[in-house]
Amino acid sequence: DWKMDSFVKDTIESLRAKIGDGKVLCALSGGVDSSVAAVLLSKAIGKQLTCVFVDHGLLRKSEGDEVEAVFGPDGPYDLNFIRVNAQDRFYSKLAGVTEPETKRKIIGEEFIRVFEEEAKKIGAVDFLVQGTIYPDVIESGLDKSAVIKSHHNVGGLPDYVDFKEIVEPLRLLFKDEVRKAGLELGIPEYLVFRQPFPGPGLGIRIIGEVTAEKVKIVQDADAIYREEIAKAGLDRSLGQYFAALTNMRSVGCMGDFRTYDYAVALRAVNTTDFMTADCSEIPFEVLQKVMNRIINEVKGVNRVMYDLTSKPPGTIEFE
Ligand code: XMP
Repeated sequence: DWKMDSFVKDTIESLRAKIGDGKVLCALSGGVDSSVAAVLLSKAIGKQLTCVFVDHGLLRKSEGDEVEAVFGPDGPYDLNFIRVNAQDRFYSKLAGVTEPETKRKIIGEEFIRVFEEEAKKIGAVDFLVQGTIYPDVIESGLDKSAVIKSHHNVGGLPDYVDFKEIVEPLRLLFKDEVRKAGLELGIPEYLVFRQPFPGPGLGIRIIGEVTAEKVKIVQDADAIYREEIAKAGLDRSLGQYFAALTNMRSVGCMGDFRTYDYAVALRAVNTTDFMTADCSEIPFEVLQKVMNRIINEVKGVNRVMYDLTSKPPGTIEFE
C-alpha cells in the first residue's frame, strides 16, 4: 500500500525532526493504537523511547507475555521496555468492591498511580506519546454528558506526568488505517487485528467482586472461546467476542457428584461503531463445543450461557 508506505516514512521523518534528541515516554497497553504508535516512535528515535507496560492482572490469558515478546528485549524493536507486574496491587484494591463504576474508578486511578511511579523513576521526559486516533479526536469534542461510562484511557495521564509536549502520531488515522500502518511496520498480525479490549480489562467482565481465582476462571474460559472461534474461521468477522463471569453459582451434576459452581456467559456482537451492536449468530455446534470444553477444562464452572442481548438496551461489556 503506497499511501501507507509514505505515511509511515513521512511520520518517522517528522517525528525525528520534532523530537531531536529528546526523551519520550509511552504507556503501552498492547492494544493496536498504542502498539503502532510505539513502533513508529521506536523506528524514529530508538532508545530515546521508553515504553511502560502496566500488567494490572486483568488482561486476557498470556497477554502480558505476548506484549513482552513483541516489545521486550527479545523482540524486534529498539526501545526501552518496562513491564510492571502490578497484579497484587490491583487485586487488593479491588477486594470487596462490587459496584461497577467504583471498580472502574479504582482500576483507572491505580493504573495512573503505577504509571506515575514509573515515570518518576525515569525522570523528566520531553514528550509523552498518546495513541489517539481520529475517532477519539472527534469523540472528545462531544457533549460530556453523553458519556455513560467513565473511560480511563491515556487521556487521563498528562496531569500526572512531568513532560513538555504530547506526540500523537496517529491523530489523523481511522482504525483500519492504523491497522494498515501496523502491517506496514511489520507488527505481528495477531496484534494488528486484535479485537478491542477495555482499559479496565477483565475487571468489567467479572460481575461483582474481582478475585484472583475469578480472573483465572474467566481467562481460561475466554481463551477456549477465542481458540474455537478462530478454528471455526470466525475471528475476523465478529466485532467483539469474549467470555464473562457471572456472579451466579448454580447447581449441576458431574458424574455422581452434585456441583455448585459459576456460570460463564459468552458474548459475541456484530457492530460497526460500537455504539449499537447485535448479537452474532454463532453456529450452534461451535457454541456447544465451547460449552463442552469450558465445563470440562475450567474448574469452578458448571454452566455456560450465550448472551443474546443487543445494544441498546444492553451494553457490549457486562459492567
Ligand atoms: P460498552 O460496554 O459501553 O462498550 O457497550 C463499547 C465499547 O467500548 C469498550 N469499552 C471500553 N474501552 N475503556 C476502554 O478503553 C473502557 O473503560 C471501556 N468500557 C467499554 C468495549 O470493549 C466496547 O468495545
